[in-house]
Amino acid sequence: DAAEKGGYEHFMLKEMNEEPKTVRDTLNPRIVENDVVIEELGMSDEEIREIKQIRIVACGSAYHTGVTASYVFEEMARIPVAVEVASEFRYRNPILNPTDLVIIVSQSGETADSLAALRLCKEQGIQTLGIVNVVGSSIAREADRVMYTWAGPEISVATTKAYSAQLIALYLLSIKFADVKGLLAKEEKKELINDLKKLPDQIELLLHNKENIQKFATRYIAAKDVFFIGRGIDYAISLEGSLKLKEISYIHSEAYAAGELKHGTISLIEEGTLVAAVITQQHLYQKTISNMVEVKSRGAFVLAVTNEGNTEVEKAADYVIYVPETSHYFTNSLAIIPLQLFSYYVSVGKGCDVDKPRNLAKSVTVE
Ligand code: G6P
Repeated sequence: DAAEKGGYEHFMLKEMNEEPKTVRDTLNPRIVENDVVIEELGMSDEEIREIKQIRIVACGSAYHTGVTASYVFEEMARIPVAVEVASEFRYRNPILNPTDLVIIVSQSGETADSLAALRLCKEQGIQTLGIVNVVGSSIAREADRVMYTWAGPEISVATTKAYSAQLIALYLLSIKFADVKGLLAKEEKKELINDLKKLPDQIELLLHNKENIQKFATRYIAAKDVFFIGRGIDYAISLEGSLKLKEISYIHSEAYAAGELKHGTISLIEEGTLVAAVITQQHLYQKTISNMVEVKSRGAFVLAVTNEGNTEVEKAADYVIYVPETSHYFTNSLAIIPLQLFSYYVSVGKGCDVDKPRNLAKSVTVE
């Protein structure tokens, strides 16, 4: 066991440290001479242009990569995206069209609800694409097409590196689709690809900062409730930050679209409640800052995760974690790292079984 953990105390920490490599391995084979080449997609440009709607169906953290991708695809490739948890999708007789592309995202490739959703689409002749980590798994075998995330085996129940790899696969697809549709200027495409290439080193840098986050996390091991807020892609990041924390630390946490706070959640803020604000989308800075001010004035302790240079948040935050500069589309890949570390250290601090949290399974193969 100790040997398998490669000197790390837990698989989760080992797997977080593998994130730079995972991102590189998922990215590099699909970048050829500054172009995105996804051979396994096997779709002609004509076929790509015929896609009128993308549906992303998944569970848990994989669903959260879908939420992120819905913002990315819609803005970058101007294709409408509907994203749904598989357990809902499969039972509501969804209205599917031959011009839909259904993307099933799954680390294990064996999640019962995701597999059932895939089969439902196939029965109706809708084209499916699996974004899968486990080679030869059921979803990988049954989907019309499969794009592998090259994360290698993931042991910790709480996903980290597979999640990061899923994001990369979805970004690549979005760039490909936008490019085929003629929506990316040459320069813009070059910049996006350059930003993708920088991600592994930037993730590495964030992982190096773990002592600060560990210190911060020890202050919250007794927390009762934690709230995560954000807008747009930052909301998607909040969903995953919140899930990570509750999964492994058993602290109640919730993610809210920051603009929804005033419709209920704000009544839960007490003196000292931790609110983690994810604030990486420049066009939404002011909006989220005003939500931070609202919770801070009601006694919340505000942690902000934001882009380097956005020092303005300091007026509304008690503690700030800066992430390196990248395209606004890709900030999830960076902002999630400190949130994963935070959850990890809270869980360790509480003495929880980090890699095998109670009641949870790595892969939910029964309903
Ligand atoms: C379980 C795992 C999660 C994962 C989800 C979906 O709940 O604990 O980490 O996101 O299943 O699993 P999949 O294998 O389909 O990605």
